[in-house]
Amino acid sequence: MSSGDRIDTEAERKQVTVLFADVKGSMDMAEGQDPEQWRRIMQRFFAILADGVHRFEGTVDKFTGDGIMAVFGAPIAHEDHARRASYAALRMLDDIAEYAAELRRSEGLSFSTRIGLDSGEVVAGAIGEGGEGEYTAIGHTVGLAQRMEALAEPGKAYLTEATAQLVGGFCELKDLGEFEIKGASRPVRVFELVGVGAARSRLDLSRERGFSRFVGRAEETAMLEAALERARAGEGAAVGIVAEPGIGKSRLCLEFVEQVRAAGVEVFAAQAQSHGREIPFMPVLQMLRAYFGIADDDPERIVREKIAGRALLLDPDFAEELPVLFDFLGVPDPDRPLPKLSAEARGRALRSVVCRLVRAPNRREPIVALIEDLHWMDPSSEALLGELLGSLEGTQTLALVNYRPEYEPSWSRPPDYREIALQPLGTADTGELVGGLVGDDPSLAGIPELVHERTAGNPFFAEEIVRSLVEAGNLEGERGAYRLVRPVGDTGVPASVQAVLAARIDRLDPEAKRWLQAASVAGKEVGERALALVAGLADREAAEGALHELIEAGFLFELELYPERILAFRHPLTREVAYGSQLAEQRAARHLATARALIELNPERHDELAALIASHMESAGEVREAARWSTHAAYWAGHSQPREAMRLWAAVTRLAGGLDGDEEVDALALSSRLQQLDYAWRLGMDREEMVRLEAEAEEIATRSGDLRARALLQMLRSARPGLEQTTSEWIAGVAEASRLADASGDHHLRVAIRAAGAYAYLCAAEFERLDRAADEVLTLAGDDPAAGAGIIIGCPVAWALGAKAIVAREHGELERSAELTDRGLRIADEVGDPETASWNRGTQVLLLAMQGEAEAGVAVGRRNCEMTERLGDVFSRSLALGNLGAAQLAAEDYAGALESFEEAERLHREALDSGDELEAWRDAVRAEALTGLGRTSEALELARHAAETARRRELRWSLPLALLALGRARAASGRDGAREALDEAAAVAVETGSRTTLETVEAEREAIVA
Ligand SMILES: Nc1ncnc2c1ncn2[C@@H]1O[C@H](COP(=O)(O)OP(=O)(O)OP(=O)(O)O)[C@@H](O)[C@H]1O
Ligand SMILES: [Mg+2]
Repeated sequence: MSSGDRIDTEAERKQVTVLFADVKGSMDMAEGQDPEQWRRIMQRFFAILADGVHRFEGTVDKFTGDGIMAVFGAPIAHEDHARRASYAALRMLDDIAEYAAELRRSEGLSFSTRIGLDSGEVVAGAIGEGGEGEYTAIGHTVGLAQRMEALAEPGKAYLTEATAQLVGGFCELKDLGEFEIKGASRPVRVFELVGVGAARSRLDLSRERGFSRFVGRAEETAMLEAALERARAGEGAAVGIVAEPGIGKSRLCLEFVEQVRAAGVEVFAAQAQSHGREIPFMPVLQMLRAYFGIADDDPERIVREKIAGRALLLDPDFAEELPVLFDFLGVPDPDRPLPKLSAEARGRALRSVVCRLVRAPNRREPIVALIEDLHWMDPSSEALLGELLGSLEGTQTLALVNYRPEYEPSWSRPPDYREIALQPLGTADTGELVGGLVGDDPSLAGIPELVHERTAGNPFFAEEIVRSLVEAGNLEGERGAYRLVRPVGDTGVPASVQAVLAARIDRLDPEAKRWLQAASVAGKEVGERALALVAGLADREAAEGALHELIEAGFLFELELYPERILAFRHPLTREVAYGSQLAEQRAARHLATARALIELNPERHDELAALIASHMESAGEVREAARWSTHAAYWAGHSQPREAMRLWAAVTRLAGGLDGDEEVDALALSSRLQQLDYAWRLGMDREEMVRLEAEAEEIATRSGDLRARALLQMLRSARPGLEQTTSEWIAGVAEASRLADASGDHHLRVAIRAAGAYAYLCAAEFERLDRAADEVLTLAGDDPAAGAGIIIGCPVAWALGAKAIVAREHGELERSAELTDRGLRIADEVGDPETASWNRGTQVLLLAMQGEAEAGVAVGRRNCEMTERLGDVFSRSLALGNLGAAQLAAEDYAGALESFEEAERLHREALDSGDELEAWRDAVRAEALTGLGRTSEALELARHAAETARRRELRWSLPLALLALGRARAASGRDGAREALDEAAAVAVETGSRTTLETVEAEREAIVA
């Protein structure tokens, strides 16, 4: 491996371009040839090939007998690896052709070369004993590059689509169509490399593709305009624009330059090239050619005339300097050759000429000199730039330069030098840019924000992400008018962006790079101590140095400083690239180290970190540990974060499935399924999925003879909310579950099942049994709020008090009901069970409405809705909305009530896909609201439906309410049968002992009679 740079020999995944070249004709020639001479010829060929590789900073990976394999982009990543490889290929073809022609003439031998290229991921690193051997690249990309070479016609270079996508525009390509290639699952599109393309920079490429709408940058443009004004006033000015790749330095300069050109100001532009650092004066040459208006195909004489014409016009004294200019621009005057000068002396002479050009006495008009990408500038040009900047004072020249942050100018800044640190685009600007590219179809909602978040306002990254979404088929349509046809999941990192970021990362000191990789595994944000553990023990000073470099270079920033320093990634994409560069094995080890660090460093915070620890354990391949920590996290999320709990339990099911069965695994497999079923009635679940989980749980419970589990399963399958059954069936289901729970002897389970089962009595309006069940819960629990907690519902004791409050309410003992509700609510709050709290608060809302404090009921109802919304539990939220609606109804806000009821119904239907035990109640109160609004025919229909449902399913708490609603709707619409409905309502209320309902019905009856 030949490179003086600091090389980390640890193997890595890298995006590279692999080049294979072989010299054809060699084998058949070998026979008739003197071996010594033959060796000389072959060596010369190899030298030409290797030279082509080195010239563009590639690495010769190996000699293959009659050719070479080279890699561009490893060990040090280059953002333009594909371009470099392609230029190298073109160069080799030219040089080999020249030598082959020579051999044909002198020796009568015929040779030619074939070249193949492919770009993609490889694993690069030392191979051999203990990782001490040769550095080499391995991967499918290598094989494919070799196949391209084999496919290529003599004297040609072929490349794959992957390479074509990276070099398109920079190189001229010919599409050869698709080829079946051995080892590739799909046909490969192959291109011939024809020559150099028109684009010189990425911005040229963007221009070819059509620029995105220029956004933002008003302030910076104003600064540039002010600088031009200073120049115009003869004060000379210099402005440097500095920013990371892709932030928009070139685009800002371009927009400005076009604006001033349009205003008649002369502009000369030059640009350093990434592969041009070894070539002296390249950008200067470019600038001078522009200045003198020299075209590529101008004959030498014309070039000399152009130079002399312009220079002498500016300053007649230039006559003496002309030979230097002629010589430098490659058109030496045969009549006045320049004496042989040392490189140093030549540089000096040139510098003085350029400065004189800038300061020429006869210049009357301002000019702008734009020099881009100083970070790639060769030292000679840089020295010249320094002198140029130093001689601006008193001239009408504005020098505009740009570079990336890693560039350290070797020139001293002139006194009036202004630097603009160009910032990433803000959310609104990125939104406008992305909007311009994709359009504003409603399906695209959220896309601009997503792109902004992923790219952190880097416009180049934003453009590339959009392009990759189009290529991946997420977006369909055409530029400015796309539709989202497939949801955007993980957008990945586009190859072009990956190349830029990987190159930046590889420029880091190896220690800093190691820390960055460790941080990328540890997370978006990571504490310093944890990071030290993951990165492996380094001495403090080295660690400090590494972190300092990462912060300075803008990879990480300090999110918090106290009590501990927390470091965070500035860029999500950088993190992904740093993460992706590591071998799976290495990543796994770092995930494990992260999990251990989290455990070790945060003994007090295991609950809240459990989910994170679990995910690191899983990535580390520690499946059992991952399942354990997920379980821990799921219990902790519990009923206060039902969605998170559901997700975690599903993870436990999945993880347990990947382990060999033993007692612990069975227990995890079983409990995770039961828990998912327990959340299913709150959040909804696909019916098939539910049936499958039930069957699997049943199988494990039976196999392991787990009575406890069977009791729970019985409850969740036959006696939970949301089932389409009569209350008799429901109550029978509860009885069976209770029997099994009692048989299991599990104290907590007995409490839990009694508490949850009590809901059936409420819906059946069996108030005595409800009261008894609640008392049993309280007695069994002995007032311990932790008894049976979290098994089916969060806090059985709090709910039992709430149930007793309902009984009291139905019996018309409103004050006692309020007192019980308060107690239940307080306990639920104390143990941190927002779910049970929300149910009890619902009871409070209804109670307030009955007590003639409807407005207060509405206020509490609203707060309850807000709290359940945060909870994310559909069952409770729908209930809370229903309760709010009932209070609104009492306050005679019929429109508000209707809205609440409709939302409650919609939520329920959408998530749980069924009517449930409260369906009849919701329909009844909704009918009341409709009657209040005068929409009586809808009210009639709904009330009738409510009564029918309540009757069919024996929902005797809802039935009188449905009949009441029906009676009122009939009365309001002047239909017959109002009286009959109310009579029946009263009869049911008498039977069930619902005194409050009876009173309401009787009052209504009197009102009708009157
Ligand atoms: N303000 C902007 N509005 C719209 N598009 C922009 C803006 N700034 C940059 N872009 C686009 O983003 C891409 C990258 O911009 P540009 O080439 O100017 O970045 P750069 O900072 O010069 O990067 P590098 O350091 O790699 O040269 C270009 O396609 C450019 O058109
Ligand atoms: Mg640029």
